[in-house]
Amino acid sequence: MAFDFEGRTAFITGGASGAGFGQAKVFGRLGCKIAIADVRGSAVQTAVAALRDEGIEAHGVQLDITNREAFAEAADEVENALGPVSMLFGTAGVSIFGPLEKATYDDYDWVMGVNFGGVVNLMQTFVPRMIDHGLGGHVVNTASVGCFVASSVAGIYSASKFAVHGITLAMRDALKEHDIGVSLLAPANIKTNIAESVQTRPAKYGHSGYQVDEAELKALREIYSHGMEPEELAEHVKEAIDENRFYIIPYPEARAMLESAFDKVIDALPPADSDLEGQNKRNQAMKRYSDARRNMDEARYKGASR
Ligand SMILES: NC(=O)c1ccc[n+]([C@@H]2O[C@H](COP(=O)([O-])OP(=O)(O)OC[C@H]3O[C@@H](n4cnc5c(N)ncnc54)[C@H](O)[C@@H]3O)[C@@H](O)[C@H]2O)c1
Repeated sequence: MAFDFEGRTAFITGGASGAGFGQAKVFGRLGCKIAIADVRGSAVQTAVAALRDEGIEAHGVQLDITNREAFAEAADEVENALGPVSMLFGTAGVSIFGPLEKATYDDYDWVMGVNFGGVVNLMQTFVPRMIDHGLGGHVVNTASVGCFVASSVAGIYSASKFAVHGITLAMRDALKEHDIGVSLLAPANIKTNIAESVQTRPAKYGHSGYQVDEAELKALREIYSHGMEPEELAEHVKEAIDENRFYIIPYPEARAMLESAFDKVIDALPPADSDLEGQNKRNQAMKRYSDARRNMDEARYKGASR
């Protein structure tokens, strides 16, 4: 059954640019009220004005998604302006590339803080509200095809996206009983401004092991200029929400890389018919634990409010 977008309020991190702005336009045209949250205040204003010009009801907040107090305030502001949020898009992200062994703690803290911490803060802020509102809904977090594979050069970025993948998969399980679907967007190349993301790096994480000079930016801009249009990508997201599908990876060129990665995982397993006694013992233990876990959780948390 198709998802009913009409009249819902969608909160989009990173909504002032690129993939997030594409989502704002596509879901706004489907009848959603759009809240854009982005760290760049002037870009928020421009994006909101463009949405309103199209007749989309929109509200903007300047928000650094690593700031938990500000997140709660932004949620109050948006729900006052547009009504209860029932769609979440954790789209904001940053990247920096270079040999992993050159990375500093600041490089890790910035990228993990925005890409993973931002998704955590989004869900911690809104998931309890969404459950309380009782309107169902959908959550879409943006990872990358780099959430399945990793290389030195994109090491921190990939680690942050592996983490987004893991928590989003777990959240799908957590929210199914609340009629809230959860999807993971794992794009390859998108035509966006992500090459410029170093400009949003805060001074407190200023000590980098990487040089981001004009040559680097030029090379990055060149790749992204050939990426998928953000609105086209958002149409794929819309389809996945309609189907309540978890993975959104609309890039056929990723198949060979992912097949190779998953073949290696499966090849690392012994044959299914080996060590039958050990398998049986471990499976029984896991089943006993799962049953005990379910019983404990039912007694502890059933009906309990957060
Ligand atoms: N562009 C690509 O090729 C590509 C590929 C795979 C995944 N992605 C992912 O897509 C998502 C969207 O990125 P994009 O490509 O549209 O880039 P973009 O730079 O065009 O948009 C990202 C937005 O996030 C905002 N942002 C950055 N730090 C923030 C913070 N701390 N708080 C709030 N907002 C913040 C930026 O201001 C920007 O408006 C990211 O998660 C990125 O990792 C992009």
